[in-house]
Parts: sequence; structure tokens; C-alpha cells
Amino acid sequence: MSVGSPFKIDTAKLDEIINANGAEKSKLIAILQSVQGEYHYLPEEAMTYIGEKMDGISPATVYGVATFYAQFSLEPKGKYEIKVCDGTACHVRGSMPVLDAVRKKIKLSDGKMTTENGIFSLETVSCLGACSLAPAMVINEKIYPKMTPDAVEIIIDTLLKENV
Ligand code: FES
Repeated sequence: MSVGSPFKIDTAKLDEIINANGAEKSKLIAILQSVQGEYHYLPEEAMTYIGEKMDGISPATVYGVATFYAQFSLEPKGKYEIKVCDGTACHVRGSMPVLDAVRKKIKLSDGKMTTENGIFSLETVSCLGACSLAPAMVINEKIYPKMTPDAVEIIIDTLLKENV
């Protein structure tokens, strides 16, 4: 993987995670969840290490499993993890203009989920379970109800001011 800065994995930490779960194939998902819990994404080096340490699977298998499940991220997340809901209720109430406004405001490059400066990451989710607040957005677990492109501008400006 070529994103982000050179990453040094903590092999002792990974060994601890593997030992706590067990090195059998069936434990791979649980191990990847723990690694993501630790680093907030799955560094390529960590996946390679896990593939070498576990019984009967290769780094390619680990990578394949990690890319298959939407819960796993192969890119580092930003300091602010923005999730724009695009479930049905939010979609019909204008989540796409909200998403476009976020993307433009944080200057996210096409095909990327995290900004170059590592401050923001952006993804869509299918339903936040807050349909009465549609269109809804979440930033680091905090829910922002009834979003509009103008509200996005103000919220992101506020976060940017915290990072100057
Ligand atoms: S559809 Fe967006 S919160 Fe349910």
C-alpha cells in the first residue's frame, strides 16, 4: 500500500493480539478487528505479519479478507472521521448535496477517503439509525442532524480553526 507515511508496526502488539485470539484461520476476522481497533485501520505491514504468523493462511489471504469486508479500512483515517448517511431517509432528504459539500470543503482528492493532511476522512454509511434526523452526519461519534451544505461549511470551518 502506498498511502500515508512509512509505518512501523509494533510486532509485540500484534503477537499479543494473535496470542489472545489464537492463530487458527477461524480467528482471522477477530484478529483484524483488534488490529483495526488498535491502529484505526489495517496497515499493510500488519496484514503481512499476521499472514506470516497465523496457521495455514498467507498474507494474500489476509489482504483478500480485509478488502472483502466493508468494516475494515486499508487507509489511515483522519483525525476527524466524517460519515454522511446515505440510507433511504437521508438520501431523499438531500444527503448527496451534503456529501458533495463535505468533499469540496475538505478538498478531498478523487478516489481518496482521507485528506492529504490527515485531518479528515470521509465515508458514506447506509443508515445511522437516526432517520428522524435526516439527513444525518456523524463526526467522531457525534451526530449532526438535518444537515445542509451551508451547515457543513460552518461545522468544517469550526473544526479547521481547532487545527491552525
Ligand atoms: S437513513 Fe440516515 S439515519 Fe437512517
